[in-house]
Amino acid sequence: MNEPIKKKPRVDISIVILAAGQGKRMKSALPKVLQPIAGKPMLAHVLCAARALHPQKICVVYGHGGDQVRSTLVDADLAWAKQEPQLGTGHAVQQALPLLPTHGITLILYGDVPLIRAETLHALVEVAQQEKLAWLTMQVANPQGLGRILRGKDGKVRAIVEEKDANATEKNIAEINTGFLACPTALLAKWLPTLGNNNAQSEYYLTDILAMAVKEGLSVETLSPKDEWEVAGINSKDQLATLERIYQLETAKRLMVEGVTLADPARIDVRGEIVCGDGKNNDVFIDVNCIFEGKVTLGANVKIGANCILRNCTLGANTEVLPFSFIDDATIGNNARIGPYARLRPGTSLADDVHIGNFVEIKASEFGAGSKANHLTYIGDTTVGKNVNIGAGTITCNYDGAHKHRTVIEDNVHIGSDVQLVAPVTIGKGADIGAGTTVWKDVPPGGLTLNDKTQVNKPGWKRPTKKK
Ligand code: UD1
Ligand code: CA
Repeated sequence: MNEPIKKKPRVDISIVILAAGQGKRMKSALPKVLQPIAGKPMLAHVLCAARALHPQKICVVYGHGGDQVRSTLVDADLAWAKQEPQLGTGHAVQQALPLLPTHGITLILYGDVPLIRAETLHALVEVAQQEKLAWLTMQVANPQGLGRILRGKDGKVRAIVEEKDANATEKNIAEINTGFLACPTALLAKWLPTLGNNNAQSEYYLTDILAMAVKEGLSVETLSPKDEWEVAGINSKDQLATLERIYQLETAKRLMVEGVTLADPARIDVRGEIVCGDGKNNDVFIDVNCIFEGKVTLGANVKIGANCILRNCTLGANTEVLPFSFIDDATIGNNARIGPYARLRPGTSLADDVHIGNFVEIKASEFGAGSKANHLTYIGDTTVGKNVNIGAGTITCNYDGAHKHRTVIEDNVHIGSDVQLVAPVTIGKGADIGAGTTVWKDVPPGGLTLNDKTQVNKPGWKRPTKKK
């Protein structure tokens, strides 16, 4: 969702991502920050927003389940700081400090707040670059449980008080601490070691640095995110599902801005990247309940029927996928027609004008332009030429129990219904294969191939009947 910010930073940016919390309420063996949003660990979403800012350094503060987190998100540009025990957010940032450059600014993010916009973070960075403390706050309808922003009579921010330390008047404040802030690193390094834990939770609160900045006369500027969901944290499966829906709806809105027609923006799931149209006209139509995984590219005027799954595939212009089809790791040309109920497995490559119909499975095979397999067929490890017609019930017998073998079907071949092609085998150009034929030897071009079978008719035949 987050494109790289175009404007390059004027100072070095360090980013600290707090991710040491346990996430007990997830009731899961998977650490909280690895729980997926749109098919990707929530921490990976945070990293994506972080990287959009061109940082010098990214440091993840980890604790519980940390080894699994580290091994899932191995990346050369990441530094890791272990926080054990967990003594609060201030203590957490302190663990990262020795791994950061001493100059520039530091931005604090959260592994369990995945939908923060890079633009929002960029706005914080722009303020902190002017030797100020930049703090992200927000007016919310229900501030319960969150830190409140205390302001003086002049409206200037003075301090943050945690819910557990707040008095009744302070609890009525609707402006909350989102947790996100940017600060000159040298100041963080000066303030963090002076934090105390004399509070209701005996924790070292990161939030206490705000009052320190005010005391020292440093200018503190507060900013707000565009949307409340940007700063929504995840502690439960319920909140995970809520943010998943928000992410999906935002993706749907972006697609519609790009000209895609969605039958229902609430019934599409994009777990990866989807690119639609030819940059000018889009006219892609997507019916309800479709799932897109990995990288999917749809040409102009593509139509996707209801209940399709498309994973890592490219579809050319004007191609139509009819309902209940599953396309996995395949490339399809222009004006093709796939489905309903088609299954294209990895390594499928279909040229223009190909028709693949119901209950057809294709694996590791190429189809030339204009070729068709319209019903009940398995084509595996096969090269199909141009303008080939494959009849209903045709099967490539590509597996001998130990090895896979290839089938070659040359241009303009017509294969009748219920044919078995026992690989390795080649069908020459323009050949016709009669219905019900088992082909186990190469077929020369041009002629008709069939098995010599005898049909026996028995007049007066009586069907067996059940004994009463
Ligand atoms: C914190 C803020 C509060 C703010 C709220 C927003 C402090 C003292 N309070 O509340 O003002 O409204 O976030 O959600 O900062 N973490 C660690 N190590 C720790 C403690 C926390 O890494 O020792 C991480 C957690 O994994 C989590 C984040 O910091 O990602 C916030 O911790 P959490 O306990 O959820 O928030 P609070 O401290 O209650
Ligand atoms: Ca806490």
